[in-house]
Amino acid sequence: MTTTAEPHSLLTTPEVGGLGHSRKRVEDARFVEGRGNYVDDIVLPGMLHMAIHRSPLAHARILSIDTTEAAAMEGVIAVITGELLAGFNLAWMPTMSGDTQAVLATDKVRFQGQEIAAVIATDRYLAQDAADRIVVEYEELEPIVTPQRSLEPDAPLIRDDKEGQTSNECYTWESGDKEATDAAFAKADKVVSLDTFYPRSHPAPLETCAIVADVNSATGQATLYMTSQAPHAHRTVFALVAGLPEQNIRIVSPDIGGGFGNKVPVYPGYVVATAASLVIGKPVKWVETRTENLISTGFGRDYHMHGKLAVTNEGKILGLKVDMLSDQGAFFSDAQPTKFKAGLFHIVTGSYDYPVAHVTTRGAYTNKAPGGVAYRCSFRVTEASYMIERLVQNAAYELGMDPADFRMKNFIKKDQFPYLSPTGFVYDSGDYEGAMKLALDMVGYDQIQEEKEQARAEGRLVGIGIASFTEVVGAGHGDDYDILGLRMFDSAELRVHPTGKAILKLGVRSQGQGHETTFAQIVAEELGIPASDIKVVEGDTDNTPYGLGTYASRSTPVAGAATAVIARKLRDKARKIAAHLLEASEEDLEWEVGKFSVKGDPESSVTIQDVAFAAYTNVPESIEAGLEGVHYYDPPNMTYPFGTYVVVVDIDPGTGQWKVRRMVAVDDCGVRINPMIVEGQIHGGLTEGYAMSSMQHISFDEQGNCIGSNFLDYLVPTAWETPRFELGATVTPSPHHPIGAKGVGESATVGSPAAFVNAVIDALWHLGIRNIDMPVSADRVWAAMEEAKS
Ligand code: CDP
Repeated sequence: MTTTAEPHSLLTTPEVGGLGHSRKRVEDARFVEGRGNYVDDIVLPGMLHMAIHRSPLAHARILSIDTTEAAAMEGVIAVITGELLAGFNLAWMPTMSGDTQAVLATDKVRFQGQEIAAVIATDRYLAQDAADRIVVEYEELEPIVTPQRSLEPDAPLIRDDKEGQTSNECYTWESGDKEATDAAFAKADKVVSLDTFYPRSHPAPLETCAIVADVNSATGQATLYMTSQAPHAHRTVFALVAGLPEQNIRIVSPDIGGGFGNKVPVYPGYVVATAASLVIGKPVKWVETRTENLISTGFGRDYHMHGKLAVTNEGKILGLKVDMLSDQGAFFSDAQPTKFKAGLFHIVTGSYDYPVAHVTTRGAYTNKAPGGVAYRCSFRVTEASYMIERLVQNAAYELGMDPADFRMKNFIKKDQFPYLSPTGFVYDSGDYEGAMKLALDMVGYDQIQEEKEQARAEGRLVGIGIASFTEVVGAGHGDDYDILGLRMFDSAELRVHPTGKAILKLGVRSQGQGHETTFAQIVAEELGIPASDIKVVEGDTDNTPYGLGTYASRSTPVAGAATAVIARKLRDKARKIAAHLLEASEEDLEWEVGKFSVKGDPESSVTIQDVAFAAYTNVPESIEAGLEGVHYYDPPNMTYPFGTYVVVVDIDPGTGQWKVRRMVAVDDCGVRINPMIVEGQIHGGLTEGYAMSSMQHISFDEQGNCIGSNFLDYLVPTAWETPRFELGATVTPSPHHPIGAKGVGESATVGSPAAFVNAVIDALWHLGIRNIDMPVSADRVWAAMEEAKS
């Protein structure tokens, strides 16, 4: 890995460690020493274990469930079925998208791996053995495994549980101006189209989903240790589902071994374990196996996309039309803002300036596990970015233009921000040309273009692909973005103790992103308290302020902003106390990181630590004691990180195998709080992007069997396959964010797949190959070449 990241102009010393310092991750000490505390590490007195009996069939009516043998096994405490849960009104639950989902199936099974019954036993393996002995009698129904079949009029109804549901359509949604877009297309010199499919994939965090539910029947207190990316929102959902008083529910998300969107939905296992603990009166632990995680929890993508770009002969984009069809699986259970049913697919207009676009999205129920989670992206942005970047590259070729020149010609220019997109988003800031120029320089674009021609003459295949993406992260504002009506704000609570050390509590929850390191840096920047003196606490609903959680790169844009604002509020109070201590007026004080001094008399000064002590020992009557506060931040807009990725590939003409020779990634996420952590996020994202483009996908056979239910069949990349990445950075602050930062966590996964695929297509374009769907495996490339020959 190389990097050309420019350092942020530093206001603080490395000892204070404010913005721009590549402070080492404080959380890593416990992880590398094996002292982390994951849900599976939690052992409570008298704790029981749960295992789930799942459907082997994708679509079938349940005729009977026989639990006799399982229930009779020694060590089995209880067997729970949907019928039993129905008695507590718990057989179905609401999803984070406002749909309903079966907790334990009663009427039908709707995907392979669906939860049917649960066994509670004294030992995990015993519970599993007993679960295997449950006998279910089925009447098989036609399994529907594509959204196209699902929407045919004669397709059997999957969601016959829903009143008024007469087809398998989950939603239809539209954005942009159809009439104006049609008119633009009528004027176009050329219309370029692309049909493509973004296959189903699974976030596959290393730690699977798990819960230890501990309901105390004497006090009514339910403590749920849970792998949750959104503990506060989950607590509210639990209160609604289980009818438990919200103040009696405490969700604790201890260390989380990766989430990537997979730990946002509420899963049936969480609910059943909680109900079991409530009924039995003992703690119940449930930890998914790898296969359970891969077949039944939130999938990503599964998007069929058809796009058209209207262009002039001179290479100017006039408009965009996109139709897409989403395979949502049996339940619509990802977390979608209610007003954006299909997610943010309308960001599909990308980094380009044109007046009109029209987007339609349809979602269909199928007999697959619920899909569509924001797998390391904001709601569907990965698919959108893939679509536009593939389309733009193809348009350039069809016009005989260089794809970089075509992009330069159409980019939204630096002075056009804030920019209103044709589908109604207001992009905050950007310098797309700057990012692309840097990326092209780093890769030596012109040189590689020349080499490409030479290679072709020698019978070699070399390709270079670009993706210049714009991401949208940091939902809300709350008027536009909410989950089940909960406005998408976030929060920070900061207390500076008498000795000048602080605790920062957040409504978000890291799953590996390094919040304990970076959020302390924001406070260090604002108050001058060394980051190492600030403890960051997350993931405990009783001990942190309410927040909507961490997904879709929202932590920095929303909770990061809340942190800066509350630190500033405390600084304002500190100024009053400093004025009292220095016997000066507030206006006469100057702030220099960590210190107030009297203007013109630098010797008369107090440090923030002096002020903190005084806040508890020496405040005037007019000032409340303490140095503490909470801020709920509802962002005025989202932030729009961007970048340009360039990939160079060599393809073996004999086998179709392709290798990444160079991968240059220039990212702009505004001010970087911790450049090292940002680069780590980008490395992770690029690796995932590469994996999706080349090998990481889950498919289903005609019966709805999940092919990819283990790590032998579902290929997640290791260090062995992962190419070397060269990182560059530009810095375009977000004007509305208190510290100018944009989120970055997802950008690389969003931006990179198109760059990899564009590079392969670039090498093959002269053979007449226009598209190869992901994963672009060697056999697909080879087959495309063979077909082109014939
Ligand atoms: O919501 P999530 O934490 O997944 O994503 P994020 O807000 O993009 O942050 C990912 C990590 O990168 C966090 O530790 C951030 O504090 C850090 N980051 C940063 O140091 N500078 C930025 N401009 C953006 C994120």
